[in-house]
Amino acid sequence: MSSKNLSGNRSSFEVKPGGIISGRITVPGDKSISHRALMLAAIAEGETTIKGFLQGEDTLATAKVFQQLGVEIENDGNLIKINGVGLHGLHAYDRALDFGNSGTSVRLMTGLLSAQSFNSELIGDESLMTRPMMRVIAPLQTMNADINCSDDGTLPIKITGGNQLKGIDYELPVASAQLKSCLLLAGLYAEGTTTIIEDTPTRDHTERMLVTFSHRLTRNGNQISINKADKLVGAEITIPADFSSAAFFIVAANIVSGSDVVLENVGVNPTRDAMLKIMTLMGANIELQNVREQSGEPIADIHIKSSELKGIDIPEELVPIAIDEFPAILIAAACAKGTTRLSGATELRVKESDRLQSMFDGFIATGIQVEMTEDGLTLEGGEFKGGIVNSHGDHRIAMAFSVAGMIAKKAIFINDCENVATSFPGFVDLARKAGMDITYV
Ligand code: S3P
Repeated sequence: MSSKNLSGNRSSFEVKPGGIISGRITVPGDKSISHRALMLAAIAEGETTIKGFLQGEDTLATAKVFQQLGVEIENDGNLIKINGVGLHGLHAYDRALDFGNSGTSVRLMTGLLSAQSFNSELIGDESLMTRPMMRVIAPLQTMNADINCSDDGTLPIKITGGNQLKGIDYELPVASAQLKSCLLLAGLYAEGTTTIIEDTPTRDHTERMLVTFSHRLTRNGNQISINKADKLVGAEITIPADFSSAAFFIVAANIVSGSDVVLENVGVNPTRDAMLKIMTLMGANIELQNVREQSGEPIADIHIKSSELKGIDIPEELVPIAIDEFPAILIAAACAKGTTRLSGATELRVKESDRLQSMFDGFIATGIQVEMTEDGLTLEGGEFKGGIVNSHGDHRIAMAFSVAGMIAKKAIFINDCENVATSFPGFVDLARKAGMDITYV
């Protein structure tokens, strides 16, 4: 079936074996950074322009929510212009705010909305409605927010506005940048200082973006402190290509013999890039070229050639810094010689799907030997035989098994792939351009 005439309801992928990954390709803008740019722009003073914004369903859900809260946003598909309303210029919306599939959006916005003078209700799609929210609710209550969620700790979240927040010292009980960022956004409005202690570093895009919007923070070892803000100032921002989207091509080019590709302008923030370390330990052939800084974030062109991979015990300290890349990394592990062990990864169970279970199921369906533990997977490198994979509505599971299809014995079919559009609009077209034989079915 042809992928040229895409109809909305063809939501499964078929990937046929063969092809190589080659050329120079640019994946779409970084999801985490796009969310943060939009959020700070909305509450800044003056205009912000954003180039390279991810035009994906998750980030567009954030944009829509801000429009509902009274922010003017112009989006021509390339450049986004936001007319910031200032820290206290958002207005109530008379219905529930719907964050779709986006955990980042709902958790960060919970911090921001807790500090407003009006009430809010936050909801999401079927998957988001089941994801844990107490991690953000509990510390916000300590900050004096009037906030609650359902009895089982999930959405809807209900916020009664008007409470003055107070700064707290808070040690993150889970390595989560969404939680840290939620509290930093609340900290912009809280009396005094909010200090967050993180034992394990997590992505620091919020910290960097606050500096871009002219707000100072202090970092002392593993402590980050933020003071109540008078104002943020609009900025001109260019967003890097998303490392987490690049990950699928990094793995594809490594495992498909004869591949040679350059991924352009990719964010290589050290709090995001542990996949490169993990893949290098496995023997991958990856080189960073033209490393530079753009809008406060390090970026590079990533050159990848195919290589012989070997199985490893993935160092647990690298897990939080590669958390979104595990679907891709595990596909690489399945093609490596020997055994790969992943542990310390229980957080994967509360992503867009239970990613340990989804990967386990996908491996079983396609002929890879795998065992699952509470906090990880152990797998033997082998051969993908082909088969039918259920993505469980999870964008990264769908893209990971698409990569596997290139080196399988027979085609891999992946069901329920609509949500690829949450993080990687145009994945099928770009993957075809890079050399993958992928079509909608
Ligand atoms: C994100 C943080 C991570 C990551 C998610 C994006 C962010 O989630 O998995 O895709 O932008 O802050 P956690 O904070 O739950 O680890």
